[in-house]
Amino acid sequence: MKRILITGALGQLGSEIALALRNKYGSDNVILTDIRTDVNKDLIKAGPFEILDCRDGKALHGIVEKSKVDTIYHLAALLSATSEANPALAWDINMNGLFNVLEISRQSGCAVFTPSSIGAFGPTTPANFTPQDTLQRPTSMYGVTKVAGELLCDYYYHKYEVDTRGVRFPGIISNVTPPGGGTTDWAVDIYYEAIKNEKYTCFLKGDTCLDMMYMPDAVQAAVKLMEAPAEKLRHRNAFNVTAMSFSPEDAAAYIRKYIPNFKLSYDVDPVRQGIANSWPNSLEDYAARVEWGWEPKFDLEKMTIDMLSVLSKRFGKPVF
Ligand code: SER
Repeated sequence: MKRILITGALGQLGSEIALALRNKYGSDNVILTDIRTDVNKDLIKAGPFEILDCRDGKALHGIVEKSKVDTIYHLAALLSATSEANPALAWDINMNGLFNVLEISRQSGCAVFTPSSIGAFGPTTPANFTPQDTLQRPTSMYGVTKVAGELLCDYYYHKYEVDTRGVRFPGIISNVTPPGGGTTDWAVDIYYEAIKNEKYTCFLKGDTCLDMMYMPDAVQAAVKLMEAPAEKLRHRNAFNVTAMSFSPEDAAAYIRKYIPNFKLSYDVDPVRQGIANSWPNSLEDYAARVEWGWEPKFDLEKMTIDMLSVLSKRFGKPVF
């Protein structure tokens, strides 16, 4: 029987991975942790929840031991724009949090899932169909912590045989918990604003292409990788995964199929534009497909239809 602990469980990824894992393994076997309690109250009430700052290794160790945890999904981290605004805090949370998780996993025999990101690449990485194994010289603090995290996870696997696994997530589009402080947040905001106001002002230029993924595929990626037979995994950590690659102009064109008057304008943020320019346009994810059967279900068209349909119902503004 699995006993799972999730850090950052009330965040964009955590809140939906938590639900999927609770449905699969039973609510009592999935312990959620986060530093806040003011969001996703239904999730907090539906099963075990502890307030935890992942930088507090002693507290984390206490919960792992008390709850007999055997698997940790470590999702607590600062995203790219927030990290760039406060690099010291990003280093502290992203690196010391991960170090604590790995150390405790070594001591208590836990398996670990840690997301890396398209942010682990930089301007010297091949930008189109970026290979699995390639140059990684990121120029953002977020990217620095992601590459260091990939290496640290590899180190704990090779040196201590901790079962570490992870993917390089692209921008994640979802409609349950909003993201915060990311360079790809526009790809969520554009759908909310299309439904609410039929217009959106984007902080990236219209032709900025980045990899993206709809939340059901992101959840599927994390759970599937953690269940894959260990002997099939050659890369273990930091698998490239993608489902689609598109720009603000592309998303607007699909939205206009259903909301013909949708207007897209721009107020470019130089910091986030700089970060986006340093990331790939599109990844190649062959290793994930071959080693553990990664196969996304949503492309831009399917995702757009689903997002608009969920949000139009929620805000009482029918579009179909
Ligand atoms: N979505 C993340 C960000 O924009 C990238 O991993 O920071």
